[in-house]
Amino acid sequence: MHCFLSKIDWVPRFVRLSRCTGALLLLLSCAGVALASPRFFHTTEGYPLDLSYAMEEGRDTEAVKTFFETGENIYNENEEFLEEAKEVYATMCSACHGRYAEGKIGPGLNDDYWTYPQNEHDVGLFSTIYGGARGQMGPMWGALTLDEMLLSMAWMRHLYTGSPDTATWLTEEKRKAFQPFQSETAEQDGEGS
Ligand code: HEC
Repeated sequence: MHCFLSKIDWVPRFVRLSRCTGALLLLLSCAGVALASPRFFHTTEGYPLDLSYAMEEGRDTEAVKTFFETGENIYNENEEFLEEAKEVYATMCSACHGRYAEGKIGPGLNDDYWTYPQNEHDVGLFSTIYGGARGQMGPMWGALTLDEMLLSMAWMRHLYTGSPDTATWLTEEKRKAFQPFQSETAEQDGEGS
C-alpha cells in the first residue's frame, strides 16, 4: 500500500512506517467488521449471550453454521423444512403464542409490532429464544437444540401476516415470492392442525 506519509520528508522514518502499518491495520479491522459473524445479546438485560450453554446435539447442521456466520436463517420459507419447523413451533411456542402466533399468554408474533424491535431481525429473534425475555418467556437453550430454535423461528416467520416488504428477514428473492399467512385458508387446507 502506498502511504502518503512516506512523501513527507520531515516525518521521521519510524513514524512513517508505524503510521502506514497502523493505517493498514485499521483498514483490515474495518473489513473485519463488515465480515464479522453476528453477535448475540440478552434481549432485556443486554449482556452477551454465552452460546456454550447450547445442547451438544444440533450444533453443526448446515443451518446453524450458516446462521452463526451470516445471521441468515436458511430454513426461512424453505419448503423442505417447513413441516418440521411447524412441529417445533407447535410443541414449544403455540401454547403461549397461539397456533397462528396471534397471541395468547405471550404477545402476537405474526405482525410487525415488536415489544423488542430487534426481533424484526433473525439475530435478535434468535437471542430472544435462546436467552429468553421477561416472565414466562424463559430461555430455550435447555429445551431446544440450536437447530430447533432456527426451525421454530422459520415457522413463526412463515405465520407472518404483514406485507412482504416488511419481511426483512427474507432474502430479496424469497421476499418477492412471500405470501402473507392467512389462517382462514390454512383452516380449510388443514394447515393449521
Ligand atoms: C410459557 C409461555 C411461553 C412460551 C412456551 C414461549 N413464549 Fe415467547 N413469550 C412469552 C411471553 C409472556 C412473552 C413476553 C415477554 C416480554 O415481554 O418480555 C414472550 C415474548 C416473546 C417474543 C418477543 C416478542 C416481541 O414483541 O418482541 C418472541 C419473539 C417470542 N416470545 C418467541 C417465542 C418462540 C419462538 C417460542 C417457542 C420456541 C416461545 N416464544 C415460547 C411466553 C412464552
